[in-house]
Amino acid sequence: MARIAHLSDVHFGKIAHPGIVDAILGDVNGEAFDLVVVSGDLTQRARRHEFTQARAMLDRFQAPVLVVPGNHDVRAWWHDPFDRVFRSARRFQTYIEPNLTPTFTAPGLAVFGLNSAHGLTIKGGKIRPRHLDAMRDYFAVQPPDVFRVLVLHHHLTRIDALGGHDIARGAREALVAAEEARVDLILCGHLHRSHVAHVELAPKVAGEPGHRLVVASAGTATSSRGRAENKATNFYNWITADEEAFRVDERRFDPDAGGFATERTTAFDRT
Ligand SMILES: [Fe+2]
Ligand SMILES: [Fe+2]
Repeated sequence: MARIAHLSDVHFGKIAHPGIVDAILGDVNGEAFDLVVVSGDLTQRARRHEFTQARAMLDRFQAPVLVVPGNHDVRAWWHDPFDRVFRSARRFQTYIEPNLTPTFTAPGLAVFGLNSAHGLTIKGGKIRPRHLDAMRDYFAVQPPDVFRVLVLHHHLTRIDALGGHDIARGAREALVAAEEARVDLILCGHLHRSHVAHVELAPKVAGEPGHRLVVASAGTATSSRGRAENKATNFYNWITADEEAFRVDERRFDPDAGGFATERTTAFDRT
């Protein structure tokens, strides 16, 4: 069995409640997870002190951590046009994770992090072909029945229930590559709305079954930037997988109780 805690959009600089960072650390560290995933937007404005706070939080998780940047973690062009073009994720790489395509492999579990961040001017994100090549190479050598997880900040598909929303440039190519890599689950964020749904991809050959991908879009774990039905609300996910099935538990913060509790559980077959 594999277990992942999935946080997104932590947004240091816009923390919602004084105790919420400690509350989520306690909630995660009270369970046995193989991995903690953070799918981007650790900061509000990519400031040094925000990254320092994010780094301190990551260091307090007991499980290994896999992190990808969000659009808020990449510096705005007006700070330094040269940096913006050539090393826009430099601060993220300095404080959080030098590798923009991190991986985590354990028995029964293969996780690949894809960088989709391209700064606030392309807030919908962008997937680079060389990062997709790295993803293909990684999943190609994993055992066939391993639980395959792709982590990125932005969405690759339109989720009808969420109305009009950003989709990364290059999403179609990324989705095709994820399908070919037999990805089971995409972990993303960015919309600040907690939503779990499956996406049916059309079969390549008429009459054959299409590939099904599950998309778990996390709410904002700790910030005051929740949107729509998640306004002023904080969520993150627990993922539990075995060879036959997996489930996603959406954990919601209760400000009165000062802790997180499961709001919804959605289960999926892997067959
Ligand atoms: Fe965000
Ligand atoms: Fe974002």
